[in-house]
Amino acid sequence: MKADVVVGGQWGDEGKGKIVDKLAMRYDMVCRSQGGHNAGHTIVVGEKKFALHLVPSGILNKNAINIVGNGVVFSPEDFIKELSQFDNLSGRLFISDKAHLNLCYHKQIDTKKELQKGKDAIGTTGKGIGPAYSDKINRIGFRVGELLDTDRLLHKIEQYYHNNKIYFDALGLEKFDKNDMKTKLEYYHLNLAQYITDTTTMVQKALKDGKKILLEGAQGAMLDIDFGTYPFVTSSTTVSSGACTGLGLSVKDIGDVTCIVKAYCTRVGNGPFPTEDHTKYGDDMARVGHEFGTTTGRKRRCGWFDAVAVAYACRINGCDILSLMKLDVLDGFDEIKICVAYELNGETIHTVPHDMSLVRPIYESFDGWEKTEGIRDFDKLPANAKKYIQLIEKHTGTKVGIVSTSPQREDTIIL
Ligand code: GDP
Ligand code: IMO
Ligand code: MG
Repeated sequence: MKADVVVGGQWGDEGKGKIVDKLAMRYDMVCRSQGGHNAGHTIVVGEKKFALHLVPSGILNKNAINIVGNGVVFSPEDFIKELSQFDNLSGRLFISDKAHLNLCYHKQIDTKKELQKGKDAIGTTGKGIGPAYSDKINRIGFRVGELLDTDRLLHKIEQYYHNNKIYFDALGLEKFDKNDMKTKLEYYHLNLAQYITDTTTMVQKALKDGKKILLEGAQGAMLDIDFGTYPFVTSSTTVSSGACTGLGLSVKDIGDVTCIVKAYCTRVGNGPFPTEDHTKYGDDMARVGHEFGTTTGRKRRCGWFDAVAVAYACRINGCDILSLMKLDVLDGFDEIKICVAYELNGETIHTVPHDMSLVRPIYESFDGWEKTEGIRDFDKLPANAKKYIQLIEKHTGTKVGIVSTSPQREDTIIL
């Protein structure tokens, strides 16, 4: 068997949670492989709404095992809070002993560094993601498995502080209280030990045994540490290849790749966004689409579908199909625009340059449609909505295989 992948194809918040939850019904295992609790994945089932940050979006499928892989930066504090919305998940949820710990001081460093940057701030979620990944790459981080021996870990964290004191002092950060840290680590141990295991072996065995595995991405291609709008990106590999290193799979283990994209485009935080719209259209997208961050509550910037950026995301991800979300948000728009090329220094280009702030979008524009909300049958979509889908396929070079017309699980057209 091969493991299928779902990734974000824009700047995050495309609707990955809804689709992973929907598809999870067909899978035995759902795994997160990167990111941390900067992710906010929303699932709506009837009147119930779940906002997931570290818990994989397969958790509502009672038959699926859910894995937090080694590539994730894991905040025990926030994970325990998140667990409180579920009944006992013992036996259905596992955390890699090799995942890196995102501890209280990472969040403090994140906040301080953003403040220092002033107007050049990245606009991070303030969850300590960058500092936790920095410690991992710098080989000074701690891993989830170390929570199993809290005395030893406490000693190592003390040593870490001692070695990095000059850095903490420069940022104006005080040393954590030792007793407080000890209590915290013991609390994490007590609540999490039952979930901590060697997930690398688990996932590999599941594949060998013919189990169906779905890998859930966080963030999106344009936030990828290498391929996104650097430095306005997150600190992990958000594209499909990151799922291999984040779980211990080989590239040969990857099956179908689905890129989730909105029918328009949003971004939270700072950085280039060529198709951002500051007119009433952008305002309408934000209002109708309830474009406020699941993790931070910040207003999302809104704009038109950028086919150049999505085509780029599809190539890097090896995307098989697009899942087109929130088509209903454009219902009633008199005009719809799609960015089909960029202008850069007087030339027309169809690629994403390293500095995306320099490009100007070139649009195709056409008439909108009346209503798609709640439609579950492709044939019932208005003619102009179908035309829009065809244009997206043409300009991204990728088939649209799923269309979503409301937050509800069932309002999804699978083609
Ligand atoms: P994720 O981070 O990619 O999982 O996306 P988020 O959950 O952060 O943001 C997507 C938002 O759009 C959530 O509030 C979803 O409930 C909502 N949503 C998902 N699909 C649709 C859709 O087709 N139509 C509408 N109106 N809302 C949707
Ligand atoms: P999901 O999985 C949207 C953005 C932040 C900021 C940049 C760096 O819900 O799609 P970080 O805290 O990661 O260091 O912030 O990345 N960002 C997201 N934007 N959706 C997300 O996750 C995001 N996770 C991080 O706003 O611009
Ligand atoms: Mg989100």
